[in-house]
Amino acid sequence: MNFFIKNYGCQMNIYDSARMIDILSAAGHKECKHLDEANIFIFNTCSIREKADEKLFSDLGRAKSIKFKIQDAGESCIIVVCGCVAQAKKEAIFNRAPYVDAVVGTQEIHNIANVINEVIEKKKNNEYSNVLMGVLNTKSKFEALKTTNITERSYSEYLTIQEGCDNFCTYCVVPYTRGREFSRDAKDIIDEAKKMVSIGVKEITLLGQNVNSYHGEGTDGRIWKLSRLLYAMAEIDGLARLRYVTSNPKDVSTDIAEAHRDIDILMPFLHLPVQSGSDKILKKMNRKYTTDEYLRCIDMLRAYKPDMAFSSDFIVGFPGESDQDFEDTLKLAEKVRFAQAYSFKYSPRSNTAAAKMENQVPEKIKSERLKILQDMLNNHQNEFNENTVGKTVDVLFTKRGKFKNQLVGRTEYSQAISVCDKSINIGDIAFVKVTEIKSHSLVGSVKKK
Ligand code: 5AD
Ligand code: SF4
Repeated sequence: MNFFIKNYGCQMNIYDSARMIDILSAAGHKECKHLDEANIFIFNTCSIREKADEKLFSDLGRAKSIKFKIQDAGESCIIVVCGCVAQAKKEAIFNRAPYVDAVVGTQEIHNIANVINEVIEKKKNNEYSNVLMGVLNTKSKFEALKTTNITERSYSEYLTIQEGCDNFCTYCVVPYTRGREFSRDAKDIIDEAKKMVSIGVKEITLLGQNVNSYHGEGTDGRIWKLSRLLYAMAEIDGLARLRYVTSNPKDVSTDIAEAHRDIDILMPFLHLPVQSGSDKILKKMNRKYTTDEYLRCIDMLRAYKPDMAFSSDFIVGFPGESDQDFEDTLKLAEKVRFAQAYSFKYSPRSNTAAAKMENQVPEKIKSERLKILQDMLNNHQNEFNENTVGKTVDVLFTKRGKFKNQLVGRTEYSQAISVCDKSINIGDIAFVKVTEIKSHSLVGSVKKK
């Protein structure tokens, strides 16, 4: 059958979708880039943002009419919901959308081909096909995935090394949708990375909800920290760039800074979500670090790697956030001057502790604070980008642009950059002189080596 996967959410969902494509392709199904070419629709959902459920059900509504049309024409059509909303809602999805054939949780994606077969069987027998897979067993997922071959990849890819979370930040849904923290064995990670490189991947971003608390079994039988794994990854022939995301400030240690100093292919850019600049709010968020510790961590990394730049996540309007707490967040942002940052209004998630806290901040105040913070963060990002004008940067080109001979890539700091140059191809890494800034991206010309 022909399948189409709609991806919502974070990089981990992108990775999971890529693995489902591997599995379904191996089972003889064919991936399509558009829903109207497919007869298996897979929605790989995310529950991080507000109204995630509404978004899913409105997409499902549209898929339902297409499914009924296909069925009226005598063909078969299967709708599957995967990902974090699937994990959180499970059978409730069938109750609201009975035309959904299967709900597959985050740690069951390796079963996707079996699920499709089961649905096909049920349909053949004229049974109602509501297949539910919702067990949170991350170990068995990765055990199964390591034997699956890798099909097609781009030049820059994600590779999950750690999944789930034991931190229970009070706003966060992840422990409920991705389960307890699990680290894969280093051997499996390195094998998978080698397979990626053998089909042309140049840049790998190691993924984990708490990537820097990675503690998997090493190839020597000992427990490896993330830094040890980074050194091993750097030995893979043909791998040109290495990143990791997302780090928790409470787990940043000097060995990571040393890795940044020592490993050439490790990009000098770190996503280090701070969430708030108020110690009172950080405590209520259960983040387990203070603003002082956060700032010291940035200083330490800069001491080992002076050209290091940082990005971050912020939440404004967390329950109990006063004007003073928000001012403290602005002060922290001003001190660090992030190269990039994402900022969100706090919104309650079911099951989380913060959803039940008193002193929820009114929507109007959240919006006002978000605007002020975003203006500041934007200025810092522009300043960082403007500083690169006239300089030569290292770029990995990953796709073609809209214009003739235009190619788009990323700098070491993950800035989007475009050039127009016939001598360059996607997959190339080249030195580019930055000539101008256009909104949030850079424009440059290739420097001939
Ligand atoms: N409300 C607002 N933002 C949130 N994030 C996570 N949960 C919530 C929530 N309930 C933000 C955090 C996190 C990013 C991925 O999403 O900043 O780092
Ligand atoms: Fe969304 Fe979080 Fe799930 Fe990623 S882990 S898909 S961000 S809810």
